Amino acid sequence: MIENGISIVGTGYVGLCTAVGFATKGYKVIATTHDAEKAELINKGAPPFFEHGLKEILQKVVKKGYLKCVPDREEAVLNTEITMISVSTPSQPDGSINLQFIKSSAKEIGEALNKKDAYHLVVVKSTVVPGTTENIVKPSIEKKSGKSCGIDFGLCMNPEFLREGSALYDTLHPDRVIIGEYDEKSGDILGSLYQDFLGREMPPMIRTNLPTAELIKYANNAFLATKISFINTVANVCQKIPRTDVTKIAEGVGLDKRISPLFLNAGLGYGGSCFPKDVKALIALSKSLGYSPVLFNAVEDVNNAQPYQVVTLAKKVSGDLAGKRVAVLGLAFKPNTDDMREAVSIKVIDKLREEGARVVAYDPEAVVNARNVFGDKIEYAKSSIECLRDAECCIVVTEWDEFKQLEPEDFIKHMKSPLVIDGRRIYTPQKFSRRLMFAAIGLSA
Ligand code: UDX
Repeated sequence: MIENGISIVGTGYVGLCTAVGFATKGYKVIATTHDAEKAELINKGAPPFFEHGLKEILQKVVKKGYLKCVPDREEAVLNTEITMISVSTPSQPDGSINLQFIKSSAKEIGEALNKKDAYHLVVVKSTVVPGTTENIVKPSIEKKSGKSCGIDFGLCMNPEFLREGSALYDTLHPDRVIIGEYDEKSGDILGSLYQDFLGREMPPMIRTNLPTAELIKYANNAFLATKISFINTVANVCQKIPRTDVTKIAEGVGLDKRISPLFLNAGLGYGGSCFPKDVKALIALSKSLGYSPVLFNAVEDVNNAQPYQVVTLAKKVSGDLAGKRVAVLGLAFKPNTDDMREAVSIKVIDKLREEGARVVAYDPEAVVNARNVFGDKIEYAKSSIECLRDAECCIVVTEWDEFKQLEPEDFIKHMKSPLVIDGRRIYTPQKFSRRLMFAAIGLSA
């Protein structure tokens, strides 16, 4: 057991969910963010973002005294024996990642370690391109602390694979633990922390060097993004071949054990804070190394074009959209989150507006964040039924459960002319097309 606790630098999805995860198992955790207001909120049990189940557990662990959040990194580092870096690594305009938060964290950890005599383990959890931990984090900590990596402090790279919406579950039940280690001692300490933390839930663990661990994260997300662009390409082909349906094709293909049915849901493409950023970073990295990653370029191209498919379908069925009231169901980049980062709804709505449509949208959680994106350029409904009222076309953009409950009658009763374009394949085509005008991604007419 880690007697003196774990500090976590950064309180975004990964940082806070990791902190809460360790705290639920009784570890003493100190989370740290420079934003004093955010720290105060966390100490009151209020997560700064919506994540299923997080608030209740955060309140519990804060109350029990297992987790606190402080704005001072030095305090966090000096009072713990392991520090995990979970700060964001956002995209730059050329697709490469911005390492400013990694650099400032390493510098501050180094400054704190300068005041500490005992051995300390530093773990990079943020998604960083190969070479970052060894060539940027290590020298910065060494310079500021005046200490040597491998002697006075240890260093690991430990990528995470948390999905928004099930981030806490994923923290407590990972598929695997990947440990990139600078030296054996560092890997041993982190490995035994995970053994102790996960107990009987301990999955396979892979121990490797730092750059390999860094690349595993990118390869993982690029593969999943490739699966999505692959099935969306099949969907687009289906639309050209009479009587074919991508949903059945994905089912048939997914039963091949070598492929698996997961991440074969055709739709409007991937969004969120990870896939778009990570595919772009991998492309930028490959190019900087003199390699043109044709496959990743294609994955990105397919994804960039995919959201427009629903607008093309809508125009095909209902003609000119100018002046028409179009209901958009779903704004968040996926269900069970309020996150609008790289949400495909942005492209869909921009295109609809370009076509002259009047857009009214509804999302169970993301309206507050969506207002920051669209302002008053669109109308916001308070429920799906209100969204449908008097609309001439309805486009399903995010597959929230509550949209799945809608029956053909709901569209017929409330819309001016009932036309549904199912961008996420949540409705049974036979049931809907019998009662109203219906089109869907990956379904030929
Ligand atoms: C992803 C990875 O799953 C996770 O391991 C990593 O740590 C962070 O990035 P997340 O962004 O939370 O997690 O969402 P995820 O559920 O993977 O979905 C990403 C996007 O792909 C969403 O926009 C979703 O709608 C889309 N998607 C997913 C599809 O279009 N089809 C699918 O079959 C699956």
